[in-house]
Amino acid sequence: MIRQIEHLLKQLIGLEAESVGRLVIERAVRQRMQALELAAEDDYWKQLERSSGEQQALVEAVVVPETWFFRYPESFVTLVELALKRKAALAGSRALRVLSLPCSSGEEPYSIVMALLDAGFAPAAFQVDALDVSARVVELARLGHYGRNSFRGQELGFRERYFEVTDSGFQLQQRVRDRVQLRCGNLLDSNVLGGEAPFDFVFCRNLLIYFDRPTQNAVLDGLQRLLHADGTFFVGPAEASLLTQRGMQALGAPLTFAFKRAVVAPVVTAHGRVVVPEPVRSMRPEPQPLRALPAVALAPPAPAVRLDDAASALARVVELADAGRSEEALQECERYLLEHGPSADAFYWLALLNDMADQGDSAQAYYRKALYLEPEHVESLVHLATLLAARGDHEGAKRLQLRVSRANPTGMKRDER
Ligand SMILES: C[S@@+](CC[C@H](N)C(=O)[O-])C[C@H]1O[C@@H](n2cnc3c(N)ncnc32)[C@H](O)[C@@H]1O
Repeated sequence: MIRQIEHLLKQLIGLEAESVGRLVIERAVRQRMQALELAAEDDYWKQLERSSGEQQALVEAVVVPETWFFRYPESFVTLVELALKRKAALAGSRALRVLSLPCSSGEEPYSIVMALLDAGFAPAAFQVDALDVSARVVELARLGHYGRNSFRGQELGFRERYFEVTDSGFQLQQRVRDRVQLRCGNLLDSNVLGGEAPFDFVFCRNLLIYFDRPTQNAVLDGLQRLLHADGTFFVGPAEASLLTQRGMQALGAPLTFAFKRAVVAPVVTAHGRVVVPEPVRSMRPEPQPLRALPAVALAPPAPAVRLDDAASALARVVELADAGRSEEALQECERYLLEHGPSADAFYWLALLNDMADQGDSAQAYYRKALYLEPEHVESLVHLATLLAARGDHEGAKRLQLRVSRANPTGMKRDER
């Protein structure tokens, strides 16, 4: 029965069982059976098959809502720079349109609003739309009340500016909440954003990692249609190579994982007609394992200069990973370790790149090395927890999650991202 349920979850929300781990799904099913006071798995399956309410309840029990304010802080700096340019180009003709999905409990879309307000944008100059499949997290976003775990950066000035302290946490001000239009919806539902005008900025971070390749491509096809021709697409670090493989162009700003549409030059036909060639979709190569990634035609070649300085060598790794050039990033990372010795960040990138290439054993070993050097390296903790769960080590994953919540949430160093 568990295989049927896994199949159903894949159809419903695109979830690939291996990405979260079969035990996570089994545990969610047990939880739901207990709640319904059902002892037989067959009875639960019958209920699940006929009740969309139960399907949603199961979805709520399996999703991974991990998020925090200003996750990947550099991306918000880049957003502001681009938003200022876009605003000038639009010259007041309309408000800027930003999409954040999945938004989880709201930390991402609200970070976007705070970044834009801080940059001097008038509230009416932009609108953020946010969507998540889990009604529970969307409701949390609506309430706008947050605990310590939502604040994991070193720069916490925004908390003083936009939150009121309460007995149990921090309440986000109404003026920020008003700028986000929240909705519960499934990204796989083709109608979910149907009829929406294109967005200037689309954030889709840390969701594609839970999908298989055909689902990733279907979702990216849909999202690309929602992105304005001059728009920018932000993904998570483990998702950058997917966009590169579709021919999208990395912006090149470190740690932002931001992409523009491919520049497709118009072609003048023999009859003098100007034609814009069919972009991206037809150029998309078949998925390849990491070690065999194809050369990326649109990306500039790596510089031939040897990087002596450890910081710039690591910056080069980040730049390549950012641009989705996984194979080159991996090589730079290995070279970095040879030349400069162990570093938590280098091991983190090595782990992440192996993780993306389904090299679970290596990824696990490298995350552990990163954590040996920096026990509170939050991204390593989060990614290793997901990997362990996916590999069936549920207890190990739980222990790491606990460490994430204890990991000095208000005092993270810049390097710990
Ligand atoms: C790890 S959170 C990502 C939050 C945020 N984007 C970030 O990077 O911090 C993943 C979210 O994806 C949502 N999700 C999973 N499948 C979805 C789907 N098919 N449509 C919309 N949201 C989905 C989950 O409910 C969960 O809140």
